[in-house]
Formats: sequence, structure tokens, C-alpha cells
Amino acid sequence: MNQKPCYILGIESSCDETAAAVLNHNKVLSNCITNQEIHQQYGGVVPELASRAHQINIVPVVKQALKEAKININQINAIACTQGPGLLGSLLVGNSFAKSVSMSLKIPLIAVNHMQAHLLVHFIKDEGITPPDFPFIGVNVSGGHTQIIIVKDYFDMEIIGRTLDDAIGEAFDKCGKKIGLDYPSGPKIDSLSKIGNPKKYTFPIPKVNGLDISYSGLKTSFINFISRNNEETPNFISNNLNDICSSIQYNLIKNITNKIELAVKRTSIKSIAVGGGVSANTSLRNFLIEKKKKENWKIYIPPIPFTTDNAAMIAIAGYIKYKRKNFSNLNYEVKSKIEF
Ligand code: KG4
Ligand code: ZN
Repeated sequence: MNQKPCYILGIESSCDETAAAVLNHNKVLSNCITNQEIHQQYGGVVPELASRAHQINIVPVVKQALKEAKININQINAIACTQGPGLLGSLLVGNSFAKSVSMSLKIPLIAVNHMQAHLLVHFIKDEGITPPDFPFIGVNVSGGHTQIIIVKDYFDMEIIGRTLDDAIGEAFDKCGKKIGLDYPSGPKIDSLSKIGNPKKYTFPIPKVNGLDISYSGLKTSFINFISRNNEETPNFISNNLNDICSSIQYNLIKNITNKIELAVKRTSIKSIAVGGGVSANTSLRNFLIEKKKKENWKIYIPPIPFTTDNAAMIAIAGYIKYKRKNFSNLNYEVKSKIEF
């Protein structure tokens, strides 16, 4: 017997991507994103410009998601939206839209924690995704966060390590900016690293006790190194670009993989799921694949479209809450900072 459809519309507007996705149960029917290119000329996200761009993009991206899913808005069973963390002005656009849709269509509204959603992406039914069993270690590596988490259940997550300063993606972006790469430079550093020597230049990996992590010292040491060499050697960056990228990537990734190894040792949980933009990184993925081969870790790496911010992850979190009838009131607030 055919299962009755259950359509969830997911909305993501926490930073500089305006995104909408439609799921039927846990299967993705559409996953649409409008990237805001305006921020490139500023080398980072400008919050005021992001909110304005969300206002322009939100209706077209939702229309596109419905069109690709081949459904009408009246068929939606519930709407899920990122409540936080993120930029307040950006969040307000997505949430005001979601509340209006919920009110006018008289369908449940479901507020979603963006960081939980980065890990719940592993419960989407799609090619290349196998859902992990609980408990597992969730590693969120994004532009705004770096977290090591024990995931005991879908919404029972305990943060056991986090960055004390910059996030890993932020460190990638700031190092990239110093060598003239466009924002976001994480993917560019990754691709330029492919033919570079990761051991050519060394940078000190900060010693932080336990599972917490720090990125600002590593970033500053890289920035100072580039300034010094630029003064001393003409064309230093362009002549050594691949080695520079490969060396900084090696150190940025080593910093987090050291902590992942420590988390496995401390918790005895050998099941690791990564999420967030930096989980697209080749060096991080290779580390996990090696651990699977050599130490029998169970590893869960999202397909690339589900690594960086997307609305399918919001919709899957929404679907799991929908099944539990975990709905939100229309008067909830957006939150720039939010824990689990
Ligand atoms: O998860 P995400 O889209 O947004 C936040 O929630 O912050 O992550 C964006 C971050 C950016 O800092 C970007 O440079 C980084 O993910 N990123 C990468 C790669 N792809 C995206 N960093 C390193 N290697 C990549 N392949
Ligand atoms: Zn994110």
C-alpha cells in the first residue's frame, strides 16, 4: 500500500544563503539555494545586506522549491524554519515568512536549531546517506561553529568540545582572504591544496586542554607569516600558492582531527558523523576514511550539497519533530545564539 504523502517545506535564512526545500517524509523532492554574491566584494558577510537580500530572494526560492517538488503550496503538511543561531536580521526574514505561511494555511510551524540540523542531515533518505545509530559523535565544522557533540538521540545532544574563539570555517576564510582568495575561501583553499605540499610550511597548533579547540592563534600566525614573506620575497604568494594552501589546510584540519581522536578515546564511541560547510573538505574526509580502514570507525560524511547551509537539513529536522508532534507557537523568538 502506498504511504500517504507528508510534505515538509524547510526554510533556511540564518546567514547568507536563502534556501527552501521540500521533503516527502524523509525524501528530498527539492533543495534550492540562492547564494548572496554581494558579500564577495566585502570579503565576508555584511549582516544588513544579507537581510535585504533574503527579502528579495525568499519568495522566488520557495516558488522554485515547490515547482521542482511538483507540488502546490496548499499540499504542504508543515513548515519548518531555522530559529537560530545566526544573524538576527536574516533569521527574522525566514521566520516571519514561515509564520505567515503557517497562519494562512493553518499548518504546523516547526522551529529548528540550525546546528542540530547540520547533523540531522544524516537521516535524510538519499543516495550516499546511511543513518547512524545512536549514540554517535557529531562534529559540526562550519563558518560560525566548531563543536564536538555526543548525539544520544535526534534532539538530545551534548556539546563536549567547542571553539574558544574562531570557528574552523572562519579561520579558512580569513587565511584565504590574506592570500587574496574570494569569500568563502575554504573551498578554494581545498582545491588549490590538491597539488601542494602540506608539510612545506609549519604553523603552531595551539595546545588547548580537553576537547575544546582554538583557531585564532593558528590564523594569526599564518597572517603574520604571509606578511613577513610578502615583504621579503617578491611574488611569494603567487609563486607558492599551492604549497601555502596545502600547508595551512593541513594545520587547520589537524587541529580538529586531533580533537576527534581524543573524543573517540574519551567516550569509546567510534561512530563519527560530520556536518557543516567544512565537512566538504577533502583532507578531513580523507582522515575519516583512513580511520574507517585502519581503526574500524563508522564514519558518516554528508554528500556535498548537504554540507554547506541548505534547507533540506531544516526540513528533515522539521519532519522528525512533525512525527513527534513537536510544534512551535507562532510567537516564538528568533535567537542569534542558541544551545541545544
Ligand atoms: O555550514 P556553512 O555553509 O555555514 C555556516 O553555518 O557557517 O559553512 C560555511 C563554511 C565557510 O567558512 C566555508 O569556507 C567553509 O564552510 N567550507 C569549506 C569547504 N567548503 C565550505 N572549508 C574547507 N574546505 C571546503 N571544501
Ligand atoms: Zn551552517
